[in-house]
Amino acid sequence: MKKYLSRRSLLKNSLAIGAGLTILPNGLAGLRASGNKLSIALIGAYGRGKAHWRSIKSENVAAICDVNEKNLGIAAKEFPNAKKYIDWRKCLEQKDIDSVFICTPDFSHAHIANWSLNRGFHVYCEKPLGITVEESRILRANYLKNRKKVATQVGTQRHAAPNFARVRELVKDGVIGDISDVYVWGNRKLHKKGYPPAKGSPPKYLHWDLWIGPTSFHPYSPEYFQGTPGRGNNCLSWNMYWDFGTGQIGDMGSHTMDLAWNALDANLPLSAEAEGDKFNPEVTPVELKAKFDIPANDWRKAVKVTWYQGGAMPKSPSKWLDLDKIGHGVIFKGSRGYIVSDFKKRIIIPYGKKRKEADMTYYKPRSKKDLIPVVGKDRFQKEWINACKGNLKTSCNFDYSGKMTEMMNLSLVAYRAGEKIKYNGKTGRTDNPRANEFISRKYRKGWPING
Ligand SMILES: NC(=O)c1ccc[n+]([C@@H]2O[C@H](COP(=O)([O-])OP(=O)(O)OC[C@H]3O[C@@H](n4cnc5c(N)ncnc54)[C@H](O)[C@@H]3O)[C@@H](O)[C@H]2O)c1
Repeated sequence: MKKYLSRRSLLKNSLAIGAGLTILPNGLAGLRASGNKLSIALIGAYGRGKAHWRSIKSENVAAICDVNEKNLGIAAKEFPNAKKYIDWRKCLEQKDIDSVFICTPDFSHAHIANWSLNRGFHVYCEKPLGITVEESRILRANYLKNRKKVATQVGTQRHAAPNFARVRELVKDGVIGDISDVYVWGNRKLHKKGYPPAKGSPPKYLHWDLWIGPTSFHPYSPEYFQGTPGRGNNCLSWNMYWDFGTGQIGDMGSHTMDLAWNALDANLPLSAEAEGDKFNPEVTPVELKAKFDIPANDWRKAVKVTWYQGGAMPKSPSKWLDLDKIGHGVIFKGSRGYIVSDFKKRIIIPYGKKRKEADMTYYKPRSKKDLIPVVGKDRFQKEWINACKGNLKTSCNFDYSGKMTEMMNLSLVAYRAGEKIKYNGKTGRTDNPRANEFISRKYRKGWPING
């Protein structure tokens, strides 16, 4: 067998040879599952992981990993043939896996994803793709280095909805003319005072030291595990703290900004400025307004993108449109009007009577055959699974989503610096030495990001 096979030919070959020994494209030897199935390690097996069970059940879930043994036990009932782990570093050593599905808290995404890419695995990683500018850059760079061998997808599954394609068509086809500004917002408010004080000892089934993983140590508190009502996910209990998340810009912002980025073919900003709540060294801001200068590209001029969260809101383009009724939304402002959109619906507001353009005669809707294909509800994970077995193409790979997350994480750098910063997307540095200190974070001893 040739030493370097493409994934495609590899999978074809493994189909032919069943569960025989194969050589992974990166030179690693491994046993893979028969029947053209991916061999997936699910890391973070419950909570958000549970929401993906159905999507990955068609494949061979060969490993499950969770620092909470109770959660691991529940997932094991769903995947009885999977090997069980509590430490993801050990899980990644399992010889027969070829792909990793990451549903752990945000502060371990970059580590698990980067280690996985280093081992030549395909990766699906829940949003956000890292909690610092540097983390997003590391993952993007590693993916770009390996893009001919691996498929990646960031868990912004709303991207698969038809509205994402329809908004992109409207913007690109000029229904509101030349885009100058985009306003993106989210209304969720999670007020926290500071890291929860130490309370009791971790229950026996929870491996606290592994939960903390690469991030700065904090003592156990049950407050980190309050669960979202009705779903049991704990993300809203920890993602407001600097060492554990990025607050709402990385949380719902990952979805809402995606609506804007997808329509703009955006690239890294040239500058960022942000203001919001008084700085709290333990908690990310509830209220935040962040403005970015996005460079022009080959089909549109430069655009200003502004993010609003936790009470900060853009002005409504019309007095009869109450933006407070749209929890998470985007306004595109163009030379001929506005598009207002949430995840599922959109409204076009052409400029009023005084402007001739309001008749919209300049705009011609696409014919059915020219519509942008929609990934489709419940198909987003499948898109990644198919990509792993085929052309490696996904909608939200680590290049597209990595850049978007890098920009969002830059807002917090600007917020902490307290002034407008210029940004160099090539070097990942700003013109402000103080701001540069917030581009990255320190990891706990023994937890390198490049493992
Ligand atoms: N795409 C979406 O719509 C969406 C929705 C909810 C959550 N999320 C994302 O999913 C991720 C998980 O969120 P959640 O609310 O389920 O969090 P959670 O705290 O409930 O953790 C999820 C699971 O991961 C396990 N876990 C924690 N640390 C681990 C580690 N180091 N190794 C292995 N397992 C570990 C937990 O025990 C739990 O079973 C977050 O990044 C969040 O942003 C995405």
